Amino acid sequence: MKKDLLTEYDLELQDFTEIFQRAAFLKKLLYQKVSYTPLEGKSLGMIFDKSSTRTRISFEVGMFQLGGLAIYLNSRDIQAGRGESIADSARVMSRYLNGLMIRTSRHQDVEEYARHASIPVINGLTDYLHPCQILSDLFTIREKFGAHEGIRVAYLGDGNNVANSWLNVAARLPIHLTMACPAGYDPDQALLERARREAQGGVHLYRDPADAVLGAQVLYTDTWASMGWEAEKEERARVFAPYQVNEKLLAQAEPGALVMHCLPAYRDQEISSGVLDGPQSVIYDQAENRLHVQKAILEMLLKA
Ligand code: CP
Ligand code: NVA
Repeated sequence: MKKDLLTEYDLELQDFTEIFQRAAFLKKLLYQKVSYTPLEGKSLGMIFDKSSTRTRISFEVGMFQLGGLAIYLNSRDIQAGRGESIADSARVMSRYLNGLMIRTSRHQDVEEYARHASIPVINGLTDYLHPCQILSDLFTIREKFGAHEGIRVAYLGDGNNVANSWLNVAARLPIHLTMACPAGYDPDQALLERARREAQGGVHLYRDPADAVLGAQVLYTDTWASMGWEAEKEERARVFAPYQVNEKLLAQAEPGALVMHCLPAYRDQEISSGVLDGPQSVIYDQAENRLHVQKAILEMLLKA
């Protein structure tokens, strides 16, 4: 495994397996109320330049449960927010901390932190990718189906950071990925082309959601207006309306298909309330698993 987790390509194939196995082990320990504190004396800085519920809480509680300390650093409150360079911030933070998690818009900023930090840097979401989310989603799929190999996932909606991360894992692992995005809202072209070249299970992008969900065992969606795109909310609601994951679309997928959403969800926009709350939704299990998977990532990166 590399020093940092910035993209899904920073992981060797055996790292994926180790993360999934470790997450299952850590989840079991937690359910059995067994204390396990391999990160005693270790600290994680968490720079947030965007809002967060799940990522912040799961990283913070995860560090606490592993015996370490997490420090929430709102980008407005640290000197980097008023002009201290990323390089200097990274060098100084490396003198205090054992790891750094960053959520910000520009992926290049996270890369720059990683270049200048001597400690592991973890991507907690950029406009480009959301690797911690997708690892946790794969873990959830493994829990529900027993394996991720051969599973047919359909992603519906915006070709955003989460969609890009799906492309990256489809390129690395034997899952089948179909996507349906409206014209003009495709995922990153370079990632799409690479995934098409490298994916063992196949990657297909459609315009019609019905084509994408045919035979799908997992229907996955995300908000139509990611953080930073709020000004386009109304226009997007119009363009994306046919891509809503609702009862009708779900009925066209494989019988018993599971429904996933990274959250936060905008009810009755990208997903109907009935589906979100319905028997095929695993959305809250998926949210819980962020904690277990992040603990596995933290243990791997920070234990040394
Ligand atoms: N899914 C996710 O990353 O949620 P938050 O924005 O609440 O962290
Ligand atoms: N695509 C969403 C994911 C939120 C977890 C966003 O970037 O806002």
